Formats: sequence, structure tokens, C-alpha cells
Amino acid sequence: MLQSTRILLIIGGGIAAYKSLDLIRRLQERGAQVRCILTAAAQHFVTPLAVGALAGERAYTDLFDPQSEFDVGHIRLARDSDLIVVAPATADLLAKLAGGHADDLATAVLLATDQPILVAPAMNPQMWAAKATQRNVAQLMADGARIVGPNAGEMAERGEAGIGRMAEPLEIVAAVEAIMRRTGPLTGKRMLVTSGPTHEPIDPVRFIANRSSGKQGHAIAAAAAAAGADVVLVSGPVNLPDPPGLSVVKIETARQMLEAVDQALPVDVAVFAAAVADWRAQRPSETKVKKQPGRTPTLALTENPDILSTIAHRSAGRPRLVIGFAAETDHVIANAKAKLAKKGCDWIVANDVSPGTGIMGGDANTIHLISAAGVESWPPQSKDDVARALVERIATALEDTKR
Ligand code: CTP
Repeated sequence: MLQSTRILLIIGGGIAAYKSLDLIRRLQERGAQVRCILTAAAQHFVTPLAVGALAGERAYTDLFDPQSEFDVGHIRLARDSDLIVVAPATADLLAKLAGGHADDLATAVLLATDQPILVAPAMNPQMWAAKATQRNVAQLMADGARIVGPNAGEMAERGEAGIGRMAEPLEIVAAVEAIMRRTGPLTGKRMLVTSGPTHEPIDPVRFIANRSSGKQGHAIAAAAAAAGADVVLVSGPVNLPDPPGLSVVKIETARQMLEAVDQALPVDVAVFAAAVADWRAQRPSETKVKKQPGRTPTLALTENPDILSTIAHRSAGRPRLVIGFAAETDHVIANAKAKLAKKGCDWIVANDVSPGTGIMGGDANTIHLISAAGVESWPPQSKDDVARALVERIATALEDTKR
């Protein structure tokens, strides 16, 4: 469960560097975004090309590389991550880290970060046992770094064995997951997210639906889980994988969604991102409606329950924070303000879903956050970034209401 977690992997110069290639994969399989830095020594063991190809973006190598300074730079590399993993952490890298050196990209980033650091040492057993190394490791632990391994076993050098093997990729992943669980701002909080469209049957083969992809709702659920929340995602039919590490309840109709939402309560926060069908067929046919020459059937509709409004207006068991979405094609802010009042929620995330915006079904989103405090317009960004920013705001709001 590392969905949306941004991991910066620093690969040091040791034979165990080949295992870091596997580590990139294992982290990605759990939904993490992995960026990599290679030290100069690491490049004797694995190439930036191989690492970049696996990570899906170029690997960083140089403190004074004009290109990387231009597009990210070492300060941003340090800040734009949730966790830094040093694997393999050589004796030399541990010494530099313990001493606060910053003479290459890896050490400069490690010094500039305020995020958790996990080191996976790998070295010859005698180097590991050396007093200097043990002093450096003790210093790093006192400074707040976490450690995984090293393990006992065979070394790369023939006939050498002892403590010094780098932890296996899956052990490193488990350590990353444990750290991310502990440090989330929503740890201990329960959150409900609705996502996707609903399908309202007309007959056994036809239904009323809409263009919602579920991307924004799923991203919010994943970001909340990455922030430590215990998340229940109630989802209509979507073409998306289940985000790992949270409970997903799959429904089809609005009425089933309301039932699933009711079962998920009580929660601290509820985010209603689903595009619920406003109407359903009054009397869905149990058999397929057949074409009859000269007769066009009429479809009688009836209104669906408004899930957001139902939950937001509850006097008992209302979540502390109820957040709705407003999908609008015109007068976005005015309509969204009216929706905030009518639905009784605390915040509305409003977006313009006119066909030209590409928001419905797309990967980017431009939103306005509307609350009693006013309107905030956010710059265009990816749905994952919107999700992370929203989750941060939720965490802050919960902190504030506690006081
Ligand atoms: N919503 C809901 N149940 C419904 C309809 C909407 O929970 N039956 C929620 C959505 O999840 C969203 C918010 O209400 O958080 C607003 O949805 P939207 O479709 O924009 O608003 P509507 O209430 O349907 O109003 P309109 O279609 O008239 O704009």
C-alpha cells in the first residue's frame, strides 16, 4: 500500500546495486512513484539508462548538471518526496551522511531533506563491523534515520560470509510501508470516499450512466490511504484497478451506493466524488425491451436519493468533515456556492466539466475549493496532485477542529 507515495531512491556504489533495480519494480507494483539518484560509484555497477528505463524517468547523477538543476534541482528532489531510501548504503555513503557532507547530488539531497530517510546498508562484513561504521550508524539512528538490514549470509566475494548483505527488496519494501504508515497525517482517521458513475438499469442490457472515470475519487482514496487513513472506497463501475491497502465496496446503482455509504459510517471525513445518476428508470424492465415497428418506448424517470445531502444533513453520526463535488458546465463558482448551501456540506470541490476542458475522463483537473471561508482557485494540476493537496487540507482541518 504505497499508492501515490513519492520515493526517492539513492543508489550507492556496491555490488548490491543490482538488487535496487528489482526494488524499483517492487515499489512501483505497490503504487509508489520512484525517482532515482545514482552516486558516481553506483554507475560502475548499474547504468543511469537502466535505472531511468525502470523508473520511467531519467535518473539523476550530478549536483551541477545544468539540465537537472533547471528542471528539478537538488532542493526540489529533496522536498518532492515522501521518503528517501538509500539502497545500497555503502560504508562511505553512511560516513558522509553521518558527517553531513554535501559534495555530490546524493549527499546534498540527503542533507537538504526533512523527510524520513531509510538506509539499507550493504558492505563487506569487516567494513560493517568496523568501529567507524558502527559509530556512523549509531549517529544516523540518533539523527532519526531508519535502517533495514544488513542481513547475514554469503557475500559477493567468493568464500566471504557474515553480516553485510543488503536486505532483500521485499524486506526494504516492508520497511518503507511501515514507515509510511507511521508518519501519515491521517493515521487513526477513518475516511469514506465515493467514486465513479452509477449505472441505473433500464432493462437487463441497458442502463443510464455518465462519463465519470472515477480517476479523481480513486486518487483521493489512494492519497488518503497513503497519508495513513483507514479508507473505505465505495465505487461505481470503473475501469481502474483497486488502489491497494484500502477497502473497496463495488456497487452499481445510486441506491446501492447509499446503502454502502451507510454501512461504512461512522467516519471522520466523507468525500463524495462520485457522479451519481440523478434519476433512474421508474420501472426497469425485467426482460429486454424489444423493438416494435412504429412504437418508440418512453422512459419514465424517478429521482435518486441524494447521498451527499442525506449524510450532510444527518444530526446524529454526521462525519466531522463532509466534502462534496460540483461538476458544472457554466457559472461554476456561483452554482457550486449554491450547492454548498443546499447540500449542507462543509466544502465543495468544484470543477468545470465542459467538453473542451478534457477534465471528465482526463488525468488533469482544475478545481475551486469552496467553503464558508470563501473560494480558492487552484492551478491546473494532475488529479493525483489535486488528491494529495486535498488530503493535506483535510489533515489540517481535522487538526484545527480538534483544538
Ligand atoms: N451527489 C450525491 N447523490 C446524488 C447526486 C449527487 O451524493 N444523487 C453528490 C455528488 O457525489 C457530488 C455532489 O452531490 O459530490 C454534486 O453532484 P452534481 O452532479 O454536481 O450535482 P447535482 O446535485 O446532481 O446537481 P445538478 O446535476 O443539478 O448540477
